[in-house]
Amino acid sequence: MYVRRESPQDVAAVRAVTAAAFAAPDRPVPAEVTLLDALRDSKEWLPRLSLVAAVDGEVAGHVVCTRGHVGGAPVLGLGPLSVTPGRQRQGVGLALVHAVLGAADALEEPLVALLGSPAYYGRFGFRAAADLGIAAPDPAWGAYFQVRTLNAYDAGLTGAFAYAPPFDAV
Ligand SMILES: CC(C)(COP(=O)(O)OP(=O)(O)OC[C@H]1O[C@@H](n2cnc3c(N)ncnc32)[C@H](O)[C@@H]1OP(=O)(O)O)[C@@H](O)C(=O)NCCC(=O)NCCS
Repeated sequence: MYVRRESPQDVAAVRAVTAAAFAAPDRPVPAEVTLLDALRDSKEWLPRLSLVAAVDGEVAGHVVCTRGHVGGAPVLGLGPLSVTPGRQRQGVGLALVHAVLGAADALEEPLVALLGSPAYYGRFGFRAAADLGIAAPDPAWGAYFQVRTLNAYDAGLTGAFAYAPPFDAV
């Protein structure tokens, strides 16, 4: 397995992996697929931070960070993160998150925010955003709204977090 930037040839496979990862009987098209499509068409899409994991030449996972803001300052929002069901629990998600955090750090981004399980994301250095004075878009998210600070982070970066607008429709 290796992680690389998404290319135009990967777009359909990335969509299929996202659909499979989030498939549910009551959702013919998972909300994460609609979100991914809308993000891709938005000005907040960051092609340098859309990465795929390729296993045996096939796209097995995908992660993207898009432009978000804290108190009006540019930061990143992570997601969707998807691993195709047959490849889950084999380290693909782990590799994708490490890779996108490294890329974001190299691009001198200060911070990555996400909504997800603290049990899963804690291992990457994510912690409750509220502890750093960063407010979730929805206060009900509590400790599930997390941030990972990067080298360019400054403790003055506080305030309300806003995802890229397509997240508002989810
Ligand atoms: C969540 C997901 C991205 C993890 O990727 P993965 O490649 O399966 O995970 P990895 O192999 O890198 O890591 C596996 C470890 O993470 C943990 N883990 C995996 N999914 C988890 C979850 N939903 N909650 C908490 N811990 C989780 C487990 O401890 C697991 O270790 P174990 O197999 O020894 O128990 C993947 O399972 C997936 O696409 N799930 C469906 C879509 C989804 O929920 N996306 C994330 C939205 S925030």
